[in-house]
Amino acid sequence: MWSAGGGPFMDQKAIFAAGMYRLLRSLLFLFDAEDVHHLSMETLRVVCSMPGVGALLRKAFCTTDARLQREAFGLVFPNPVGLAAGFDKNARYLKELALLGFGSVEIGTVTPRPQSGNPRPRLFRLKADRALVNRMGFNNDGVEKVAERLKAWRSQQEGRRNGTVPIVGGNIGKNKDTPNEEAWKDYETCFRALQPYVDYFVVNVSSPNTPGLRELQGREALGRILGRLQEINRTFETPRPLLLKIAPDLGESQLDDIVGLAEESGLDGLVATNTTIERDSLSPPSREKAEVIGAGGLSGKPLAKRSLEVLRHIMARSGGRIQVISSGGVFNAEDARERLEAGACLVQVWTGFVYEGPATASGICKGLLEKA
Ligand code: FNR
Repeated sequence: MWSAGGGPFMDQKAIFAAGMYRLLRSLLFLFDAEDVHHLSMETLRVVCSMPGVGALLRKAFCTTDARLQREAFGLVFPNPVGLAAGFDKNARYLKELALLGFGSVEIGTVTPRPQSGNPRPRLFRLKADRALVNRMGFNNDGVEKVAERLKAWRSQQEGRRNGTVPIVGGNIGKNKDTPNEEAWKDYETCFRALQPYVDYFVVNVSSPNTPGLRELQGREALGRILGRLQEINRTFETPRPLLLKIAPDLGESQLDDIVGLAEESGLDGLVATNTTIERDSLSPPSREKAEVIGAGGLSGKPLAKRSLEVLRHIMARSGGRIQVISSGGVFNAEDARERLEAGACLVQVWTGFVYEGPATASGICKGLLEKA
C-alpha cells in the first residue's frame, strides 16, 4: 500500500486500497456517524491484536523518512501529520493510531470529572461538502482514567523511540457545570494529572459545544488560565510545551489580542483552528441540511479557507515568531503543503480521516515526500 519510494506497483496498490475504502465508506455512511466511529476503532483494535498484523500495518502505513521529521516546541515529530483532538478523546487507541502513521495524536479534550456530553445524535455528515457537524460536548472518561491509560502506554513505549512512536498531546478543558470564573481550576487539575504523561499541552477554550467556553478566549480570563498553568509548569522537572487552541470565528482584533497574549505569556504555540459555528461556506443543499441538524461545530472542507486565513494572519502579525499547528479542512498532501508553506509547523486532520480513510496520514506523508 502506501510506502515511500514504493514505485508504480505500490501506487497501483494504493489506488486499489483507496477504491476499496470508498466502497466500504458508502456502506459505513449508511449508519449513525458516532456508532461508525466507535465500531471502526474497536474493529481496528481487534485486527491489530492479531499476530503479525501490527508489523504489516507498520510496513504499509508508517513512513520513517528523516525528511519528514519536524522539530517544534523543542520536540521531534516523526512526521508533520497529526490526528486532531476529539478523535481519541480517552487515549484508548494510541497503539492503533501509531500503526496508521500519524506523527502525533492529540488526546482529549479531557475534563477533570467524567461527563457524558450532549444527547445523541450529536455527530452528523454533510457528505456533499465533505464536512461534519458535531455537538459532542466534551464527552470523556475524566482525567484520572485518561492519565492511567497514558501511563500504561508510556511504559509500553519505554525505549521504543524508533521514529514511529507518535508524539502525544494532551488537550484540556473544563467540565460543563464549572462556572467560567472557576474554569482555571479545571485546567489546573487536568494539567497536573497529565503532566508526566503527555509531550505537550493544548488549552482548549474554543469548542462551540460547551456553553460559555469561548468567552474564555477574552484577554483577562485567558491570561489568568495561561499564567497559572505556566507557573505550575515551571515547578515540574520537565516543563511541557503549552499551546492554545483557537476558534476560526474570532475577528481580526481578537486574533491580534491572542497573538499579543501568546507572546506575553510565553506560549509555545497555537492550534488554529477548532470547528466553526459559521455556515456561510456551505453549499445550498448542505446549508439546508445543517439547518435541520441545528447547533454544532462545522469541520472539514468548508473550514479550510478560514483556517488558512487565520494561519496567515497569525504569521503576519507575529512575524512568524509563533509556531502554529494548522487544523481545519486538511485532507491530502496538497492541503498539508499549502499550510506548511504558509508557515505552519505541523498539520492535523480529523474530518479528512473520515472521508479519506486509514491511509490518510501515510498518503499525506508520501505526497509531501514526492515534492520534498
Ligand atoms: C472535534 N474537535 C475537537 N477539538 C478539540 O479541541 N477538542 C475536542 O474534544 C474536539 N472534539 C471533536 C469532535 C468531533 C466529532 C470533531 C469532528 C471535531 C475539533 C478538531 O480537533 C479539529 O480542530 C476540527 O475538526 C477541524 O479539523 P478538520 O476536522 O476540519 O480536519
